[in-house]
Amino acid sequence: MHTEQSVWKPRKVVIVGAGAVGSTFAYALAQSGLADEIALADMNNDLAQGQVLDLAHGLPFFPPVDIHVGSKEDYADAHAIVITAGAKQRPGESRIDLLRRNAAIIESIMDDIISQNSGAVVVVTSNPVDILTYIALKHAGWQKGRVIGSGTVLDSARFRYLLSQHCGVDARNVHAYILGEHGDSELPAWSMTHLGGVSIHDYCPNCRKCGNWEAERRHLFETVRDSAYHIIDYKGATWFAIGLALVRIVETILRGQKSILTVSTLLEGEYGLEDVCLSVPCILNQDGVERILRTSLPPEEQQALRHSAEVLKKARLDLKGTA
Ligand SMILES: NC(=O)c1ccc[n+]([C@@H]2O[C@H](COP(=O)([O-])OP(=O)(O)OC[C@H]3O[C@@H](n4cnc5c(N)ncnc54)[C@H](O)[C@@H]3O)[C@@H](O)[C@H]2O)c1
Repeated sequence: MHTEQSVWKPRKVVIVGAGAVGSTFAYALAQSGLADEIALADMNNDLAQGQVLDLAHGLPFFPPVDIHVGSKEDYADAHAIVITAGAKQRPGESRIDLLRRNAAIIESIMDDIISQNSGAVVVVTSNPVDILTYIALKHAGWQKGRVIGSGTVLDSARFRYLLSQHCGVDARNVHAYILGEHGDSELPAWSMTHLGGVSIHDYCPNCRKCGNWEAERRHLFETVRDSAYHIIDYKGATWFAIGLALVRIVETILRGQKSILTVSTLLEGEYGLEDVCLSVPCILNQDGVERILRTSLPPEEQQALRHSAEVLKKARLDLKGTA
C-alpha cells in the first residue's frame, strides 16, 4: 500500500525587475493560471509593493495565485527566475557604459540566486539580452541550458504576425523563426518558414499579393527588425508582446513541454559557432534547453548567422577592452 503522502510543490516564478516588462509579464502570467506563486522583486521596493497590490486586487478575476513582493530567499524554491531588471541610459552615457552597468546588475542578481542554492531555470530578458545571458551563464558556471535569454522569441512572434497579415492566415499556422542576435544583426530563416507545412517559397507565389517577392521579403524582415524602434518612437518602450513571449517561455519550463522556441543559448559548435549566446531553435523543458536543433542552413543564412555571432563577440570584446 502507498502510505507516503505526495508533497505538493507550488509552481513558482520569481520576476526580478517590476518595471514595464516585469509587471506586464506578471499580469499576463497571473491571468494564464500557469503559476501557483509569483514573487515580484525590484531594487525600488515601493514600486514592487505598488505593482503587487495593484495585481493582487485582480485576484477575484484571476485563477488562484499567490502574488507577493519577492526577496532573495524566494530564489531557493523557484522553478523559473525571469530577470527584467535593467538600468536606464543616463544622459550622455555611452552604450558600452550602460552595458557595463547592466552586466554588474546581472552578476549581482546571479550571486543572490547562487547564494540560495536555487535549482531554477534563469531567463534573462534585460538588454542586450544575448550578451547579458552569456555573462549570467559564465558568472554562474552552471550547466549551459539552465541560463537562457528570451532571445528572438519576440522577434519570431513579430515575424509570424507580419507573415500572417501578408498571407491572410492565422498567425498560429505560420511557423517562422528569426535567428541570431536579438537586435540589428538578426536574420530571418526563410528556409525554415512554412504555413501549414507548405514552404513559404511555394505558398507565396500563389497568394497573389507579391508583385516582387524578393522586395516583399526584404520589407517584411526590415519591418520585424525595426519594430522595437518604431514602438519606442511611439510610446517610449515595448512591454506587451515581450510579456506574452515570456509567458510562452515560462509555460514550457513549468510544464516540461519540450516546445521549440528561439531562446538565446550558448553555442558550442552548433552551426559552426563557438562561445557565443544567440538564438536558434531549441527544445525547452523543465531544466531549460534540452537540445539545440541542428539543420543545414543555406549559405546566405549561415553567413548571416556567422555575422551576427561576430557582432555579439565584438561587443563582448569592447566591454572587456573598456573595463
Ligand atoms: N529581450 C527583449 O525582447 C526585451 C523587450 C523589451 C524590453 N527589454 C529589456 O527589458 C529590460 C526592462 O525593461 P523595462 O521597460 O521594464 O524597464 P524599466 O526601467 O521599466 O524597469 C526596469 C526595472 O529594473 C529595476 N532594477 C534595476 N536594477 C535592479 C536590481 N539590481 N535588482 C532589481 N531590480 C532592479 C529598476 O528599478 C526598474 O524598476 C530593459 O533592459 C529592456 O531593454 C527586453
